[in-house]
Amino acid sequence: MSSIPEKFYVTTPIYYVNDIPHIGHAYTTIAADILARYNRMNGNDVFFLTGTDEHGQKVEKAAKDRGMTPKGHSDLMVKNFNELWVKLNISNDAFIRTTDVEHKKIVQEIMSGLWRAGEIEKRSYTGMYCTPCERFWTEKDLAEGNCPDCGRPVERIEENNYFFLMSKYQDRLIKHIEQNPRFILPGTRRNEVLGFLKNNQLGDLCISRPAARLAWGIPLPFDENYTTYVWFDALVNYYSATKYLAPEKNKTGFWPAQHHIIGKDILTTHSVYWSTMLMALGMPLPENIFAHGWWTVRGKKMSKSLGNVTAPGELVDRFGADAFRFFLFREIPFGLDGDFSEEALIKRTNTDLANDFGNLAGRVLTMAEKYFGGALPEPAGEENEMRLLSEEISAGFDRSLKRLDFHGALDEVWRLVSYTNKYVDSSAPWTLAKDPALEGRLRTVIYSAVEAVRIITLYLHPFIPEATAKLWRQLGFEQDIRSFGTRTACGWGLLKPGVKVQKGEALFPRVETGDPAVKQEKQKNKEAKKEKQHMTEQNMIDLIGIEDFAKVQLKVGLVLSAEKVEKSEKLIKLKVDTGEERQIVAGIGKSYTPEYLVGKKIVVVANLKPAKLMGIESHGMLLAATDADGVCSILALDKDVQQGSRVK
Ligand code: MSP
Repeated sequence: MSSIPEKFYVTTPIYYVNDIPHIGHAYTTIAADILARYNRMNGNDVFFLTGTDEHGQKVEKAAKDRGMTPKGHSDLMVKNFNELWVKLNISNDAFIRTTDVEHKKIVQEIMSGLWRAGEIEKRSYTGMYCTPCERFWTEKDLAEGNCPDCGRPVERIEENNYFFLMSKYQDRLIKHIEQNPRFILPGTRRNEVLGFLKNNQLGDLCISRPAARLAWGIPLPFDENYTTYVWFDALVNYYSATKYLAPEKNKTGFWPAQHHIIGKDILTTHSVYWSTMLMALGMPLPENIFAHGWWTVRGKKMSKSLGNVTAPGELVDRFGADAFRFFLFREIPFGLDGDFSEEALIKRTNTDLANDFGNLAGRVLTMAEKYFGGALPEPAGEENEMRLLSEEISAGFDRSLKRLDFHGALDEVWRLVSYTNKYVDSSAPWTLAKDPALEGRLRTVIYSAVEAVRIITLYLHPFIPEATAKLWRQLGFEQDIRSFGTRTACGWGLLKPGVKVQKGEALFPRVETGDPAVKQEKQKNKEAKKEKQHMTEQNMIDLIGIEDFAKVQLKVGLVLSAEKVEKSEKLIKLKVDTGEERQIVAGIGKSYTPEYLVGKKIVVVANLKPAKLMGIESHGMLLAATDADGVCSILALDKDVQQGSRVK
């Protein structure tokens, strides 16, 4: 292991105080917590920051609706976040509030610096403004006249404002993203941002609001008639915190951050606004921005009006913080969207935590007590395969967490969990114990199984800190689990024979489905299913027979070349080999660059009548999916299949 501590700075978004915290907020914060804990265990110098975004129109309005001042309202809301973080065992080193005096001062210093350097300009501006999103849009951005993000009506506003000259950094930003493949992760998000930057002219960013319209914010230091745009104020938190909230021993040394963990909803503000702001300031960019996926509840977006906002605090009260934390990262690969249901949470808790891991730990400790009075026996030999597996996992676990692949890291650990369960079953210590001639073998089996449980416990600690800390003590350690590193202490043989181990109460009691709350959850699921069935019945009218589908000839195509259609934002002209060469025009230019498409195997409707798009002939159609957020994904093949093959 490297003995020099590395600095590790990880952040979450700062959350708006107009809402109570829900699963989405908890998700990002737990992800950052896992990384922070893992890095601390391995001796790194960690700064883990979370906090709240308290300025702007949304908060001003939420406070007004409650008849409170924005600050009074924020003070109350901040409590909800802090209480939840304690419940979830979040180990943040600091909590920033954008109303902190120090933060406000730093934002003003940065503004003044940019103003003096000529990076900010005053201009008259007319734009379509979405109040809930606090964003200006151009007419062509609008979706049927409404805000393309939230779908709500926009207002035409004309005013003088200050602009950050963001556009001049477009090429530098493209280069930076291209040269640093880990800067934006996952890769799909990176491609999206690159596609956007390469196919659109980046505008300048309006960074002020007239104080007469919005007073709740940081005044512009060079013009008191204006308030700083809330996103400009908010993004600066990642830097300002290093100046006044970072741990004493490395004050000011934490910038740049290793990871900004965010949800996919705020990728543009982070990858484009924040990056170009830093460029203008001559400051280094964060090493990585990771945009994770979206949690829905029974297939629907969480929203107050749908009444499906699941309060994480309640889930913790019923199932425990560990079960909730574990579920979120075991269930869905980080980066993809996921659907939350209590049923799935219970299933995971019962299978993975209660059965696989909890039972294993309980069994081996019980046997150590029963056969050896709790003193860990000296093994008569070494279980090489087990040792090798635990070493192999160490590398895989590290590699996965470096990429924020929490799911992959847990998969690695579960290889050892499954192996050890099988090992105990097939070694049958209860049979060995009956024959004194097999005493040596019994010692080896019990020692090895307990040692494997110890290693698993360490790996799982960043994910499930409570249960693993308890189990660590049951394994005979007096020293806190946090002072052992996964990289060093996961080596085989750290547990010394003779140490006193003892079984405690079950770490993860099975959740019984007779529980009234669980019954209620089942009922809700039934209703959701019914609703779905009803919807399907309503859609029956649209059903087609197989003979109808057979009329559509789908083929695998290899993209030979691709280029943008001039004067069009959306259209890309492709030469595709589908057994015969053809030209296709596809409306995917907002999501894909031509370079990305070349060499890809796609799916093409091959027997479509030719059509002309912007005067260019298209012989066929490429298949792609677009979701409600406008994310577009082409259908590609997961194995290499010969072009021209039929898709049925
Ligand atoms: N205040 C801004 C962020 C400023 S950062 C400089 C903001 N706040 S927010 O309260 O709306 O929080 C957004 C973040 O919460 C998302 O980026 C994501 O991290 C998390 N989530 C909110 N809802 C979510 C889901 N449904 N699913 C997963 N995470 C989501 O935007």
